[in-house]
Amino acid sequence: MQTPIPAVQWVGDERGCVRLLDQTLLPTEERTLDCTTVEMVFEAIRSLRVRGAPAIGVAAAYGVIVGCQAKIESPRAEFNAHFEQIVDYLASSRPTAVNLFWALDRMRRVLRALDNVFTSRQVLPRLLSEAQMIETEDRAMCTAMAQHGAPLLANCTGVLTHCNTGGLATAGEGTALAVIIEAARRNSALKVYADETRPLLQGARLTAWELMQRNINVTLICDSMAAWVMKQKRVQAVIVGADRIAANGDAANKIGTYGLSVLAHAHDIPFYVVAPSSTFDLTLPNGNGIPIEERAATEITHGFGRQTAPTDCPVFNPAFDVAPAEKITAIITEQGVISPVTTENVRRGLAHST
Ligand code: MRU
Repeated sequence: MQTPIPAVQWVGDERGCVRLLDQTLLPTEERTLDCTTVEMVFEAIRSLRVRGAPAIGVAAAYGVIVGCQAKIESPRAEFNAHFEQIVDYLASSRPTAVNLFWALDRMRRVLRALDNVFTSRQVLPRLLSEAQMIETEDRAMCTAMAQHGAPLLANCTGVLTHCNTGGLATAGEGTALAVIIEAARRNSALKVYADETRPLLQGARLTAWELMQRNINVTLICDSMAAWVMKQKRVQAVIVGADRIAANGDAANKIGTYGLSVLAHAHDIPFYVVAPSSTFDLTLPNGNGIPIEERAATEITHGFGRQTAPTDCPVFNPAFDVAPAEKITAIITEQGVISPVTTENVRRGLAHST
């Protein structure tokens, strides 16, 4: 396999830029985009050029650096005020994935810990180190999740996944997809069913692409085929990522995930959620408070350049839904496996988070 282009990376020193693999062009074109302004980073997050909860967090942290470069010669008070504006701006790019807010909070904590004796010029490299640490830590969390999760798929001949949770969504090999990749390393006969993931086709365009690049046995299905695939006993597990997990384990993920959790339960198939601790929002007791992003109607009516619905047809386009904790067999984090999924077990399972 050719070395994959990272979904997001920093190029150069603190005067550098954020380089993204433009995921809206995949799978037919591999083109990178150098974001040299915070507006470019914002646009890239909002339009899903970079996407997937952990990757959004990494991109936003780097976005803070590009956004603050203009104030490198300014007094600290001015730099600090500008920093807050940049953070608030980036935080408004997408609402559901909590990794975005988690990463921006980390950046904010670093700035606030740096006394005003440090000049703006001295602060910027320290902020860059924090952003780089967020990226490095995410890579390590992917590796750990893969190790914790792969044994759960040891007896499977087929697994079903939804959306894209791989190297394109993280700084490492992924969340749920990293588990699948590790399980496939151990059992090369493992067959992966990838939901195409309407309306933006992250499963078809990104997951199938990533798995095929790795020579992993993948079969693409339309979202509506999942029930039949389960009924036919083609899969023995469903495994997905998450964008925000509440204290009781309710897990928001790409629209369609809730339905899969219900279907898996009805077919007596384990339903696994894989996410790093940065995806948990323990301020929310359950999933009812998770903000669900609603996206443009045109994603459904004019997907990929063709009108496929009557002009002005009313549309409802929530980008995420919430799988309830009671339908989740286990949550796999970098710290281990949380099962059964209860508030108490989530708290214990995250005991080592910073
Ligand atoms: O809208 P997207 O493509 O950003 O949605 C991504 C997902 O829903 C993923 O499943 C989720 O971020 C977890 S992946 C690491």
